[in-house]
Amino acid sequence: MSKVAPIDQRKSDHIKINLEQDVRSALTSGLENYRFVHQALPELDLEAVDTSLTLFGKKLAAPILISSMTGGTPEAGEINRRLAAAAQTVGAAMGVGSQRAALEHPEQAATFAVARQAAPDLLLFANLGAVQLNYGYGPDECRRAVDMIAADALILHLNPLQEAVQAGGDTNFAGLAKKIEAICKALETPVIVKEVGWGISEETAKRLAECGVAAIDVAGAGGTSWSQVEMYRAPDEFTRQLAASFVGWGIPTAESLLHVRRAAPGLTLFASGGLKDGLDIAKCLALGATLGGMAGPFLKAAAVSAEKAVESLELTRRQIQVAMFAAGAARLPDLPGRLVQVGK
Ligand SMILES: Cc1cc2nc3c(=O)[nH]c(=O)nc-3n(C[C@H](O)[C@H](O)[C@H](O)COP(=O)(O)O)c2cc1C
Repeated sequence: MSKVAPIDQRKSDHIKINLEQDVRSALTSGLENYRFVHQALPELDLEAVDTSLTLFGKKLAAPILISSMTGGTPEAGEINRRLAAAAQTVGAAMGVGSQRAALEHPEQAATFAVARQAAPDLLLFANLGAVQLNYGYGPDECRRAVDMIAADALILHLNPLQEAVQAGGDTNFAGLAKKIEAICKALETPVIVKEVGWGISEETAKRLAECGVAAIDVAGAGGTSWSQVEMYRAPDEFTRQLAASFVGWGIPTAESLLHVRRAAPGLTLFASGGLKDGLDIAKCLALGATLGGMAGPFLKAAAVSAEKAVESLELTRRQIQVAMFAAGAARLPDLPGRLVQVGK
């Protein structure tokens, strides 16, 4: 029997821990501090409320993103297949998980490529850790990740804290902005940068806008906490305690959206991190985002069945549509300006 490579083991650990343990941040997304102004006379026909948009040349029925999660093992491949098929059925967008394992072990490429095979029209995002640009990766590896799944854009994820609280993490983040800039220049496809659950600050957003990124996904605090995931994987007590101490770290998603909008007003913005449903997505759109993403909630649905994944996306789309209806927004661009701040 072949020995499981550590990177595969990490992928299965991630799925297992996310499904079985409480890995929530001690913070909330901050979206609970906003409420739509209810319109008792919306002067709209619910069925005519339009949740569609066009992004990177692809038409979406709803502004929903299945956030980057997985690939690399047969189980992860099946989750990618279910999620991609569901996203195509409902008209949502999707990201696959980090493709580094498949670049290093090409036999794993099929567990990512399955997403494109299941969903030829899907707006699909490739994914690599930006820090790998400091560990030998460059435009070639980025292009290979894009080509592997015929992606419409490449997501580079920033996860300094996750790398810092795990044993043997890749922690050299020095001089990375210049390398991200070089990738933005070299690649034919748009480059998106995201966090993984601790948010993007105003300074970081400014720097990324200068690098020439096509979009930023704030992936703020309030949902899945990767220091908690690493705490459950920790090989010793020292690492466990180190990871556990960051449970309350990060910029809540609502706050991060405001930071990024201030720093880069014209830049396409995605919102994720602790979003619970379509109402939260609608709130993020009202705060300036173009798409709202969820990871944990869609993973749980896809782990049950392909049908559950479709159901979960359909419900999310309907929640957005009904929220728009009751807030008096006929189209997505009508959402901004319809929220009031009720908390802090
Ligand atoms: C099982 C799992 C695996 C993930 N793997 C990746 C990854 O490979 N690349 C990435 O950019 N983000 C990854 N993420 C982070 C998510 O894309 C997202 O930013 C984060 O989980 C916050 O969203 P949530 O609160 O809706 O879960 C992963 C999340 C989960 C739950």
